[in-house]
Amino acid sequence: MLATEKQYVQWFENETLCQARWLSESKQVPPARIVLVDDKTTADEAYRLACAGTSMLWQGDFQNARQLLQALTRRIESSEQRKISKAAKKNKSAKSKDEVLMIPNLFHQQRQAQAQRSRILSRLLLALDAGYVSQLRRASDVSAACKAAFGQLDEPCLLSFRDLQGALGAAGWRAKGVQIDSLDLAIFPHYGVFAPTRHEYVQLLLDAPLPTVHDIAFDIGTGTGLLAIILAQRGVKQVIATDLNPRALACASENFARLGLSAVQLQQADLYPTDVPLANLIVCNPPWLPAKPTSPLEYAVYDVNSAMLRGFLHGAKQHLAAQGEVWLILSDLAEHLQLRSRDELLGWFADAGLEVKYRLDTQPKHGRSQDETDPLFAARSSEITSLWCLVSET
Ligand SMILES: C[S@@+](CC[C@H](N)C(=O)[O-])C[C@H]1O[C@@H](n2cnc3c(N)ncnc32)[C@H](O)[C@@H]1O
Repeated sequence: MLATEKQYVQWFENETLCQARWLSESKQVPPARIVLVDDKTTADEAYRLACAGTSMLWQGDFQNARQLLQALTRRIESSEQRKISKAAKKNKSAKSKDEVLMIPNLFHQQRQAQAQRSRILSRLLLALDAGYVSQLRRASDVSAACKAAFGQLDEPCLLSFRDLQGALGAAGWRAKGVQIDSLDLAIFPHYGVFAPTRHEYVQLLLDAPLPTVHDIAFDIGTGTGLLAIILAQRGVKQVIATDLNPRALACASENFARLGLSAVQLQQADLYPTDVPLANLIVCNPPWLPAKPTSPLEYAVYDVNSAMLRGFLHGAKQHLAAQGEVWLILSDLAEHLQLRSRDELLGWFADAGLEVKYRLDTQPKHGRSQDETDPLFAARSSEITSLWCLVSET
């Protein structure tokens, strides 16, 4: 199934009008104006065009397009770096606290920069024939990766090199898998599905004592199926996993089949499964930052106004069997970024009729938490991910 709406784009080549299906993962509208570029186009010229909002259809050597994309990335990075240094300097010389750019603003500024970077890089396009075949010189065979990412397509299409690179990268992960050392197994993520590359929280799920009765568990927002797999391997008799994202369901189903797990069922659902018994255990690792997602994959990370988190908490009690437990896996990065307070979170537990039985903590060790040049280093390096064990209020 194609993740994009059916949209078409037109452009001229040697005064001939061409048309192709428009594919855009970040749901960008088809470009109104396209200019043709090739190996003779300099990186500076391409950067200027892209910054001015012009889409460029690549006609040159396939491999050279990668180099152009790298050159564009370097130009964007140095422009971002200049802005960051300017903000840091401004903060240093600020005469009063009011003049200092505060953490939530820095976070929003960083996201705006990421969105701008994505818009600029997405302006370098390529055309593919039906079945995702490129006619460019020295073209790689991209058809299998595109089919896996975007679905079967029997007509020509136009997409950004950036989306193509995403599809190629995902094909690599899908083939190689993400090794989860503490489980001694690999998980195979699909394109557009949250890949558990930072998986410190797995240990929390292994350390938490299972409720005495653990016949039925739900994994809400299963992604690759990782948490459902842990529960099944720990001996939960029946696990029901849900996700809104159809790619996640296909991915989880493949991971369950690889491991021969027949005790796991999948349902496409907004939060809770329907027509199932009450659960002894409900686990959820929701998107952890309250902000607007800008692409389908970002729905795993960003959650407007913490709507999924609050919806999950609000519905938990009515799906829980007597003596049942909720295991909420949640990073406190949003608290360090001042996007959500601890009191707010505790208030949502109380509003949902839940109380904290215990909490297990872990500290992420991923690269970004160690990068001292990141303006959000103070927040990122303080991040703690917790497993909150919640039970119905007595
Ligand atoms: C942070 S990822 C966690 C994935 C997986 N459980 C793990 O721990 O690796 C959050 C997942 O929640 C899913 N999701 C977001 N909103 C949802 C909703 N309203 N109902 C069901 N799933 C949702 C996303 O598609 C994503 O797969």
